[in-house]
Amino acid sequence: MRTIAVLNQKGGVGKTTTVVNTAAALAAAGSKVVVIDLDPQAHLTIHLGLEPQTVESGSYEVLTQSAGFQEEILLVRPNLWLLPANINLVGAESELVSVVGRETILREAIHTVEDKFDYSFIDCPPSLGLLTLNALAAAEEVLIPLQPYFLALQGFGKLLQTIELVNKRINPALKVNGILLCMFDTRASLPKEVKADIEQFLDNARGTNCAWAQARILPVYIRRNIKLAEAPSYGKTIFEYEQNCHGAEDYKKVAEFIHTQVQPAPQLNTQPDAAEVPEDQNVQTLEQMKELSAVGEAAQQQNISAPPDTNQRPDTDAEQNRDKPPITIKSIPQPDSQAPPSEFTQTRANQNQPESQ
Ligand SMILES: Nc1ncnc2c1ncn2[C@@H]1O[C@H](COP(=O)(O)OP(=O)(O)OP(=O)(O)O)[C@@H](O)[C@H]1O
Ligand SMILES: [Mg+2]
Repeated sequence: MRTIAVLNQKGGVGKTTTVVNTAAALAAAGSKVVVIDLDPQAHLTIHLGLEPQTVESGSYEVLTQSAGFQEEILLVRPNLWLLPANINLVGAESELVSVVGRETILREAIHTVEDKFDYSFIDCPPSLGLLTLNALAAAEEVLIPLQPYFLALQGFGKLLQTIELVNKRINPALKVNGILLCMFDTRASLPKEVKADIEQFLDNARGTNCAWAQARILPVYIRRNIKLAEAPSYGKTIFEYEQNCHGAEDYKKVAEFIHTQVQPAPQLNTQPDAAEVPEDQNVQTLEQMKELSAVGEAAQQQNISAPPDTNQRPDTDAEQNRDKPPITIKSIPQPDSQAPPSEFTQTRANQNQPESQ
């Protein structure tokens, strides 16, 4: 199972939308997928059509170890399971403060279903607290949705630094695999310079052993699309709500990319030093982690800055992806469809993103 944490401590950047629709596309194409709502706002739960008030138990119970992962997940669509959230989750961070090993509770819970799913996606809250730490401890991959605008980059270094600390201290397998540019308006323009700055930042880390050394901006991006904004209020994925819109098109491509993405090769020197970090000595809090380690300094020192928007048209990375075997998800079943999920099929896909709505 690939476990992917969808994370950005900035609010409203497209995390939940990305989890719902990427997972739905993969499930519709035949993969077994579980999505985990780790946000007390319960937006993932709502987006998939459940009312948090009616959710008696879910991720809170798993984190407080009063229930097992498998008994709490719900089949919400063919091939798609949800570990829902309800308001109880608000209290989880403070309740877990004194629990030994609190950072790795989710990881242990997920391990119990490792062989039952192809993918798990964790929808993180817009913060870098204990819930997010649990997500990072449980995942091997981080996908960062990001709006490609100057202000969206504020905090990006801190986000990477946190991931780096978790990687060094409690999860050597953790890697940032991708940055997904979300919600850009094609009537304006993709600020090329912002994208170039991120690329430059990522390039600087190539060949190092930091957690984002192999990260890349996904060669597909998500256009701003009103249908994506409307679908959650109907409790529908974009494929159920309007399968012929740009949002559906874009998220299918994201799912295709993730499905074909070659896993990053293991990096050197990412194992924590056993003498330095004893097995039973979990780091207490993120603040302490930061004090304990100087790793991630590069993230802080790299001052990501970008000039204001320009009028450049969006470019694509299709060229870079030419060697990857392209696949297309043939069709996504309608909500009530009993049709068996379609399969990923090998076809030559047009990987260029249209430039206008
Ligand atoms: N590509 C898009 N075009 C238009 N609206 C979008 C798009 N993606 C997401 N939205 C809308 O923007 C809002 C924020 O998106 P979303 O909830 O996915 O962000 P988030 O990062 O999960 O937010 P939070 O940090 O609060 O959890 C939602 O109303 C969503 O429907
Ligand atoms: Mg969200």
